[in-house]
Amino acid sequence: KDYSEAELYRPNFHFTPQKGWMNDPNGMFYYNGYYHLFFQYYPDSNVWGPMHWGHAISTDMITWTEKPIALYPDEKGYIFSGSAVVDIKNTSGFGSLENPPIVAMFTYHDMKKEKAGETNYQSQGIAYSLDEGLTWTKYEANPVIKNPDMKDFRDPKMTWDAIHQQWIMALAAGDKTMFYSSKNLKEWKLLSDFGKAIGAHGGVWECPDFFPMTVEGTDEYKWVLLLSINPGGPNGGSATQYFVGDFDGNNFKLDESFSKDINGDKGVWIDYGRDNYAGVTFSNVSEVDGRKLFIGWMSNWNYAQKVPTETWRSSMTIPRELVLVKKDGHYSVNSRPVKELQNYVGKTIKKETLKIDKETVIVDKSVINLSSMDIHFSLKNLKEDTYTFSLSNELKNTVKFGFNKKENYFFIDRTQSGDLSFSPLFANKISKAPITEKFDAIDVRIIVDKTSIEIFYNNGKTVMTETFFPEKPMETFSATKEKFGYTLENLTINQLNF
Ligand code: FRU
Repeated sequence: KDYSEAELYRPNFHFTPQKGWMNDPNGMFYYNGYYHLFFQYYPDSNVWGPMHWGHAISTDMITWTEKPIALYPDEKGYIFSGSAVVDIKNTSGFGSLENPPIVAMFTYHDMKKEKAGETNYQSQGIAYSLDEGLTWTKYEANPVIKNPDMKDFRDPKMTWDAIHQQWIMALAAGDKTMFYSSKNLKEWKLLSDFGKAIGAHGGVWECPDFFPMTVEGTDEYKWVLLLSINPGGPNGGSATQYFVGDFDGNNFKLDESFSKDINGDKGVWIDYGRDNYAGVTFSNVSEVDGRKLFIGWMSNWNYAQKVPTETWRSSMTIPRELVLVKKDGHYSVNSRPVKELQNYVGKTIKKETLKIDKETVIVDKSVINLSSMDIHFSLKNLKEDTYTFSLSNELKNTVKFGFNKKENYFFIDRTQSGDLSFSPLFANKISKAPITEKFDAIDVRIIVDKTSIEIFYNNGKTVMTETFFPEKPMETFSATKEKFGYTLENLTINQLNF
């Protein structure tokens, strides 16, 4: 691997563009053996600028090949976030049944109008591809949805609603989401809106995603709405909340138990760490293997444009399978790293039990590459107040994480994780996630790359994802004893090889 200055912080296995600026994942779909990832992209600089859609493809969502830029800005504006669907029945007429078109919808952001002080600068356009997403033709009658004189009116996410046999689309519109339906992906009818004074509203709503999910292990299904918000995240800056409810083909109604969970200006978040934003799901996968697959942008608008990488900026989260879980009458959308990661496991260290009766090194660099690990263990009979784990190197760069049972929160502490100089907002405090239910045992899964940690507690019920920029790679993974000591059970440490 290249550890030259320029590549010091290039992740080993999280997607990054070869060069230039990247933000939100866009238009993700699966077709004919390939996962397609598009992304908000500005190739000419390492900060945000005139937005394009970059493109990458993969057979397993882990190893990606970057393709030529898919969509360029034009006289109607920058190409902001959006989605893509495989139009199998050729409802749009852009292709044929033999060669179904891929249809993308994105937001046109007209900078000229914005500069002129107008408010109606965002509208929705579509484009289609007849070669599996490689090249695109913009529809000549764009925009397909005009601006109703609203400043924030963007990020269309289309889904085939098999239950009501219609295309649907969710759009972020100021402090709410608007739902539309269509028969042909060109003409869209406004159905309803959702979200005014519901959930967290600390910032503008962006990047919705709306889809049905079956409750794990049952036949019951519910509709899930993902909604990104900036600022107003649980630990500052941008983050993604979700809602669970019912959809009758026109209106989305929050489930009663779920509305209790978000009482007041509170959100339930898909990830409580500071670096998972604008995440949405792939289209056309469920039809194939039933999974709901999610990727988020592993950064935060608070400091994204300042992180210490030069030739490129930002990476995506590890792809995750979303699972709808019902427990004691409460619904939660759990995230789990996709099973494809398993194919990259090299060396494995397994211990049925490991006693933590003092500051204990769990694994160090003499045994494993700590910049490429997938760790799993469980804890029982939780007696300590605080359980603290850390990644560190000889320069004392440290990322601490764990949970406090007494005060009921999970945490990540990157306040001494290496380079913090680029932004006061990066490590101004310890990030926390609430523990909302009593538990006496817990399972923990941790994915570590050179510059990121993704922690999945209780089978993905609570997730924390954060980036860090150590001055040299992390060398030691350890656990701290507090009062009584404890035992890690079923410890598995997988080194991932790429
Ligand atoms: C979210 C976002 C979207 C917008 C895009 C612009 O990060 O602000 O709402 O479409 O980024 O790049």
